[in-house]
Amino acid sequence: MKRRESGSGQRRISPTNNRQSGVNIMKILITGGAGYIGSHTCLTLLEEGHEICVVDNLVNSKEAPLARVQEITGRHLDFQRVDLTQKERLRRVFAAHSFEGIIHFAGLKAVGESAVMPLPYYRNNICGTLVLLELMQAYGVKNLVFSSSATVYGEPESVPIRETAAVGPTNPYGRTKLMIEYILKDLYQSDPEFNIAILRYFNPVGAHGSGRIGEDPNDIPNNLMPFISQVAVGKQPRLSVFGSDYPTPDGTGVRDYIHVMDLAAGHGCALEKLCQNPGVVTYNLGTGRGYSVLEMIAAFERVSGRPIPYQLVDRREGDIAVCYADPALAEQDLGWRAKRGIEEMCTDVWRWQSANPNGYE
Ligand code: NAD
Ligand code: UD1
Repeated sequence: MKRRESGSGQRRISPTNNRQSGVNIMKILITGGAGYIGSHTCLTLLEEGHEICVVDNLVNSKEAPLARVQEITGRHLDFQRVDLTQKERLRRVFAAHSFEGIIHFAGLKAVGESAVMPLPYYRNNICGTLVLLELMQAYGVKNLVFSSSATVYGEPESVPIRETAAVGPTNPYGRTKLMIEYILKDLYQSDPEFNIAILRYFNPVGAHGSGRIGEDPNDIPNNLMPFISQVAVGKQPRLSVFGSDYPTPDGTGVRDYIHVMDLAAGHGCALEKLCQNPGVVTYNLGTGRGYSVLEMIAAFERVSGRPIPYQLVDRREGDIAVCYADPALAEQDLGWRAKRGIEEMCTDVWRWQSANPNGYE
């Protein structure tokens, strides 16, 4: 493939068609591809036949999942350890490849931490994205899938949440996501050759069915599912259930947990959508069904056969009572729907956690 010079026009997707699967094969740059959702998406896209280059600075991940992804799929991916905020390093990656699309996962994501140290969050998430977008424009790569979050909705006025619902994130992390959404919309207004899919994830959980890759949080997990699985494997003594007086059937918070492999498949569908030159599109990726904390505990105990000791404690500051998606638009436009239920989510987490009690260590 010929390299396109800086400043040239848009590289339209001119993909080869994989006749067996019907998928348009592309050369894709995946930022943050060594992370939890990124590694599962790499696996799915390699299996679909795409060519992949990952850039990641490994600030919240390791290289091991990428080795395992290649082992599982029997396919090669290119990995470059690059920080997105370092423009010259990233420019070299653009110069060496002819990307047809980009999936942008790279970012810092811990809500509590973002409140304690907002500046590194704004610098990393916003500046990293700006550098990426500048290089996309310079190299004429104008197809982007961006990882946003249900956190942009803040406290929802009603559920299920549609994409048209009011936004109002309540923490710096969420505000970086919403700011990037605005940047992407402004960019498209100024340059309608861009095609951008903004994906608002609900609560990603689960692991690949092989048990070889999964979520591997640094330190003590903040999120429910990794905490439960660490209790099951004996790494944490008990779970604290944050709040039992919410206006929900059992008093605990309700969320839309979505299997990470369903989420990964959603990225393949979004890339396909970009082939139709849709402009900027925004989709919720959730199941449309909420589960409470106590329901998640019970499901995990069922599949693992392990008791999950827990204590009811005060609400966590900033938490909301209920949050679940209306995923109808993604089904209608992308032909995507979450297929895996809560049992499969818990089974796959347990397989990963019990086979890798110390994660990728
Ligand atoms: P993750 O931390 O596992 O993956 C993010 C990856 O980005 C990591 O590998 C990290 O090393 C890398 N990274 C961060 N800053 C970078 C930089 N400046 N340069 C290069 N690489 C950098 O997180 P994840 O759970 O896989 O989330 C992926 C994306 O989805 C993130 O943008 C996150 O905000 C978003 N998201 C995640 C969730 C969730 O619950 N996991 C929910 C909604 C949205
Ligand atoms: C978190 C993020 C949110 C992000 C979302 C999806 C926070 C405050 N919010 O939301 O920005 O979009 O993940 O990744 O981190 N719970 C417990 N005990 C625990 C952990 C959680 O009871 O130890 C409860 C929570 O109160 C909540 C539910 O479990 O009701 C899910 O929590 P969590 O996994 O942290 O996700 P969210 O709070 O939905």
